[in-house]
Amino acid sequence: MLGKCQDISAQSAPMKSFIQFFWAALKNPLQVSTLFATGSTAVEAMIAPVPTRPNDMVVELGVGTGAITQILFNKIGNSQKYVGLELNDDMIEFAQERFPSLRFVNDSAENFAKYLDGHKCTAVVSSLPWTLMPAPAVLATLDSIKENLAPGGVFATYLTLHVLKTPAGKRFQDAIKERFGGFESKVVIENLPPVKVLIVRK
Ligand SMILES: C[S@@+](CC[C@H](N)C(=O)[O-])C[C@H]1O[C@@H](n2cnc3c(N)ncnc32)[C@H](O)[C@@H]1O
Repeated sequence: MLGKCQDISAQSAPMKSFIQFFWAALKNPLQVSTLFATGSTAVEAMIAPVPTRPNDMVVELGVGTGAITQILFNKIGNSQKYVGLELNDDMIEFAQERFPSLRFVNDSAENFAKYLDGHKCTAVVSSLPWTLMPAPAVLATLDSIKENLAPGGVFATYLTLHVLKTPAGKRFQDAIKERFGGFESKVVIENLPPVKVLIVRK
């Protein structure tokens, strides 16, 4: 259907990303959750606390079209230390084409430790749609982050403002507090939609 209404090969890279994301979100609303990729202010707020240790792995959960990947990779600067997980076939194909040197796997977030070769990671950066995911997958992902994040490591994520007080939004924040004792937060109002960035330090 995309091919019928728009030839994205003729578009600029940002326009291609926009169309790819928008279309994937329309096709898979419960998986993608929002019509727009994360904006740079929210991404910067998530990436700023990520420690840069040359030998440590960094994990991205829910790569999408790579809005976070670009800034995260600029910070870590070593393609061998990155692994990104993404469930959506079209998104992962797009991301792999955009970042040929990075490793992306088509697997669900809770399985990320399989790709660390037995090592701990120094950061987990996630834009997963926590409040739309099945509860067991949310809890399994948080458990795995707790288990596989190195001491001093950072887990950075966000919730959109309008889900903060929903039952699923509250359950997610409580689940973080139970496992990590709490989080720092920053509201990014200019994101579309506005988000609350959550930073957990282990
Ligand atoms: C809100 S989008 C964010 C995409 C991109 N990182 C960004 O910031 O613009 C959420 C992404 O998570 C992916 N996703 C949803 N559930 C997932 C899961 N269980 N494991 C891995 N990826 C998942 C979706 O396909 C989608 O690409």
